[in-house]
Amino acid sequence: MSTVPAPIDATSTPAWAALRKHYDEMTAAGVDLKGWFAADPDRVKKLSFDMGEFHIDLSKNLVTDETMKLLVELAREMKIEERRDAMYSGVHINTSEDRAVLHTALRRPASDAGTVFDGDQDCVADVREMLDRMYAFAEKVRSGEWKGVTGKKIEHVISIGIGGSDLGPVMVYEALKPYSDAGIDCRYISNIDPNDMAEKVRGLDPETTLVIVVSKTFTTLETLTNGREVRTWLLDALEAAGAIDGSEASRAEAVKKHFVAVSTALDLVADFGIDPENAFGFWNWVGGRYSVDSAVGLSLIIALGPERFECFLKGFHDVDMYFQNTPLEENVVALMGLINVWYVNFFGAESHTVLPYNQYMHRFPAYLQQLTMESNGKGVRWDGSPLTTASGEIFWGEPGTNGQHAFYQLIHQGTRLIPSDLIAFVNTPNPNKDGDQDVHELFLGNFLAQTKALAFGKTADEVRAEGTPEELVTARIFTGNRPTTSIFGIDLTPHALGALIALYEHITFVEGTVWGIDSFDQWGVELGKQLAKQITPAFHDDEALAAQDASTKALIEFYRAHRK
Ligand code: F6P
Repeated sequence: MSTVPAPIDATSTPAWAALRKHYDEMTAAGVDLKGWFAADPDRVKKLSFDMGEFHIDLSKNLVTDETMKLLVELAREMKIEERRDAMYSGVHINTSEDRAVLHTALRRPASDAGTVFDGDQDCVADVREMLDRMYAFAEKVRSGEWKGVTGKKIEHVISIGIGGSDLGPVMVYEALKPYSDAGIDCRYISNIDPNDMAEKVRGLDPETTLVIVVSKTFTTLETLTNGREVRTWLLDALEAAGAIDGSEASRAEAVKKHFVAVSTALDLVADFGIDPENAFGFWNWVGGRYSVDSAVGLSLIIALGPERFECFLKGFHDVDMYFQNTPLEENVVALMGLINVWYVNFFGAESHTVLPYNQYMHRFPAYLQQLTMESNGKGVRWDGSPLTTASGEIFWGEPGTNGQHAFYQLIHQGTRLIPSDLIAFVNTPNPNKDGDQDVHELFLGNFLAQTKALAFGKTADEVRAEGTPEELVTARIFTGNRPTTSIFGIDLTPHALGALIALYEHITFVEGTVWGIDSFDQWGVELGKQLAKQITPAFHDDEALAAQDASTKALIEFYRAHRK
């Protein structure tokens, strides 16, 4: 049973009232980043933080010393530290599912065995045992000791999953491509749209392909359908090539050599026909969107190797420890979450962009969308009562500089306040020159230019001084005071990426705690799944069609009229 205290209503705290008054005074006086920088030579120093290999600059946010002080007071009044400690120690803070929330146990070192329990389960000991099994398996695949049914080395991995069983692995695989050193190419199938599978298996040799079916529940329609389809593709192609004779025994043997599974439901894995010996487990105290560092990352261990995966885990763990051990006033993880609350609940911001200045991180915004929005997109608190505030930022973004030529216009001059996180790295694995110009520096110049333009803008007088005709002046004014956080790393290594993911996990936690949300369930995805089961027969069945609402019925009739 859960021993979680009832959520505190943030709006009833003294800090909230003080923040409201402070907001009114700040906006009455005029938000003025330029003025605040001029008035306080220590602003950057006070609002910059070093977290491991990251230098994080909060100074271009719409905050003053007073704001930061009040946000920290709010954090204390909301008991963020207590809830963090409850999470780390295995209290069932996921109340609607009565589960512990222990993704932090996934990255603890082996020496922490015996320190974190869920009931009788020694979580860290079990994590390390599973990691050892995965490392041994991955080494076999990487070295070529693990062979396909015709004795060939594995050259391609297809990982099938969706949501948390896909977004993390894809994002990390893409982000850490320079570290994939085993000559094994990974592809990820998630969508039940047959186009996804068709494109991903194109050109693959089934004799050298290993398939990983990843599903926490092993009940997900998309994943099981894709898993069956890929199994049919693989077995049929092997048979057509004469690699297997097509007998039941030969097909079972091929599945054994070419299919492995990752799940918390190992009984269902066996039902699917995958040998339980080739299954890797995790536990219900790991949420799907918090699982990339569990067995869900098996494809990554194969691509990167166990040593680099350990560095990845260490990156998470270092931030976990930083978040736990750093006083709130200096704790940039907590402060970033609190500043987001400031924008959502006081400035009325609805969305938040994440803009990686690193092409390898092109799936990071999509990854964060599930992490942040599936976690905090809720209308009730963890005791079932309605929320008392707005919640749940809409996360979106694209890598810079591409986004600059697409939607930054709205961030610079639109009518909405959109706080933005810009992420960049000092070094690139692909240094290049265009004549004398270092191209990475040109790229980084763009990163810095955007934060500067957003913060300080361009006044009418500056526009006029450029000789702009009077009638065009207003269109060329940049108001400035558009908040950004700069996250500057040294190199995009496995360690750095683990740290970044953990940073956003805990930012999400801080926001969820202020809002009183159970950030670890996802009931909002269930209704659509149920209805899809009811609706699908209506494509062919008149009785099922008649049972639909008028709009759904009309859409299905359109489908029936035009299908080929
Ligand atoms: O539909 C949402 C969801 O439940 C996510 O929370 C989860 O990451 C995804 O589906 C996949 O679930 P599973 O890993 O159980 O297949």
